[in-house]
Amino acid sequence: MKISYLGHASLSIETRDKTLLIDPFISENELANKININKLQADYILITHAHQDHILDVEVIAKRTGAKIISNFEIVAHFEAKGIDGHPMNHGGKWKFDFGTVHYTNAVHSSSFPDGSYGGQPGGFVIETSHHRLYIAGDTALTYDMKLIPDVIGELDLAILPMGDNFTMGIDEAIKASTFLNCNKILGYHFDTFDYIKINHKEAFTKFANAKKELFLLPIGENIKL
Ligand code: NI
Ligand code: MN
Repeated sequence: MKISYLGHASLSIETRDKTLLIDPFISENELANKININKLQADYILITHAHQDHILDVEVIAKRTGAKIISNFEIVAHFEAKGIDGHPMNHGGKWKFDFGTVHYTNAVHSSSFPDGSYGGQPGGFVIETSHHRLYIAGDTALTYDMKLIPDVIGELDLAILPMGDNFTMGIDEAIKASTFLNCNKILGYHFDTFDYIKINHKEAFTKFANAKKELFLLPIGENIKL
């Protein structure tokens, strides 16, 4: 499994034979100007919640690639009304797709569309393929529910956590989340894009190292392989 960081909370995940795009917000992210949304592949687009910084490029990419959307019921209905195919889920549910199983997990956040309309409840995803199990938290506070993930779903190979603070948890809470998740390998996201969420990378690495946890903060366009 190859996980590429596309800036902010946007990721591309290549499984054995499918490409999943997560929360594409690229065309208005100056930090991600070397990523060309017209060249991104996608068989599926997973959306954690309806905020603009998570859905901006969904429509353009889905219409070009024919990708199917996986998200909560309200977000899928929103995009189905635009002629885009989707698979609706809700918290606590799982579904077996052709690339693996997706679990839609809780997040403590909000989820309105840019026009203020209701975007369902925000969530995150656990993606299980035959070889790997990956948690993508979405925008969320630290929550005790994270303890349920390794208990109920299974041991994680990697957890992707927001780290920019202000709108989500910050570095210290992400370290606690790593403990709750029983996963010491963490990829940070949702940081540096806006002034409110700028973080000190050196401090983040030091704090994770002191907690004996492994932190990855990828340059935009770079990837890690599981
Ligand atoms: Ni948000
Ligand atoms: Mn966000």
